[in-house]
Amino acid sequence: MNNFEFYCPTRVLFGKGQIAELPRLIDKSKKILMTYGGGSIKKNGVYDQVKKALEGYNVLEFGGIEPNPKYETLMKAVEIVKREGVDFLLAVGGGSTLDGTKFIALASKYDGDDAYDAIMIRGEHPDSAVELADIITLPATGSEMNNGGVISRLATSEKLAFHNPNCFPKFSIIDPEVTYSLPVRQTINGIVDTFVHTMEFNCTYDVNSPLQDIWAMGILRTLIQEAPKVLANPEDYDARANIFWCATCGLNYWISVGVPQDWSTHMIGHELTAFYGIDHGQSLAIILPRLLRNQKVSKSQKLAKIAREVFKVDESVDLKAADIAIDKIEEFFNSIGMKTHLADYEIDPAEAAEKIRDRFAKRGVAFGEKGAITADVAYDVVLAS
Ligand code: NZQ
Ligand code: ZN
Repeated sequence: MNNFEFYCPTRVLFGKGQIAELPRLIDKSKKILMTYGGGSIKKNGVYDQVKKALEGYNVLEFGGIEPNPKYETLMKAVEIVKREGVDFLLAVGGGSTLDGTKFIALASKYDGDDAYDAIMIRGEHPDSAVELADIITLPATGSEMNNGGVISRLATSEKLAFHNPNCFPKFSIIDPEVTYSLPVRQTINGIVDTFVHTMEFNCTYDVNSPLQDIWAMGILRTLIQEAPKVLANPEDYDARANIFWCATCGLNYWISVGVPQDWSTHMIGHELTAFYGIDHGQSLAIILPRLLRNQKVSKSQKLAKIAREVFKVDESVDLKAADIAIDKIEEFFNSIGMKTHLADYEIDPAEAAEKIRDRFAKRGVAFGEKGAITADVAYDVVLAS
């Protein structure tokens, strides 16, 4: 196992009715900005629950944070934070609302002209952030228990990630009941996103870390077991709860400590979203099978383990088992209604491959656990998708 340092200061409140605990978690003296997305929280009762719990608090609101949150929108909230002296941000929504709120928290402490350029491109972060917390309403990103965010800029069709130790939520409220209202498409996106996070943390090469492997396989198996239940019955509390906890544990870094990682599916997927607007989960389902096929030899040991322990495949030759694992993963995505090809979204693979190769070449990046995913390899992967 490799050396590691683990830190996560987020308090997690999981389960039914936990929104009512808000007064215990936020000091009455705080001036709160409650951030949210396009309005789902007003339809499913979450907004009312939060307002009720925060009666007597000084609460301002900022709605309209879109999926794949846009810098241009977030800076309007930054203006409010600065003008009104807001000292607590409460994100109520999916990963986009929470990621956007993490960016607002940082950018509100930045005094220069272009916070995107500073934080997202140059990595020059202010040394503090406004305190933030969340009520997460979509199981997918794990943003509720990590310090990362992914922000898009309309002006340049970019989508990039940032991390900052001051962006851990102070607390996260995870009530699986709030996910009953999710559109099927978002439920599926979340399951695939979680599956792919787990793969990117685990499917690299072996460093003798059986506990991390068992945790990761446990997440994959739980997703495969619970996904059909939530799709058949969106109000199956236990299945919703199990899927939500998988999502949180898929990206709170427990499964990643001490092991190599490969974020190339995400890096390519972000470009597909930036150029073509497809959902984050959709982009991953297209790229992962082709990326795995491209890297099959170097990942064969882990893929074979996944074949045997997740999909119960009886095949002793690693390379053959690896092939079966890749097929099974794509079959699982398809079985829950997730499409896995660019053509399904009327995207021309040759055009997408060119655009992504150009971008990666300009940035001079090479992704993957061994730096093998260069601009040219990304081209091959996208072309095959
Ligand atoms: O905007 P509203 O009206 O709230 O509706 C949202 C949105 O339309 C809706 N929704 C959310 N919770 C709901 C609900 N509808 C009904 N009932 C509920 N309970 O779902 C739609 C999608 O929401 P969004 O927040 O965009 O989805 P998700 O949580 O999948 O977040 C995606 C974003 O997170 C980033 C992605 O790149 C993307 O920008 N990621 C963030 C990560 C992180 N911070 O660690 C890691 C991930 O890999 C990912 O990259
Ligand atoms: Zn993701």
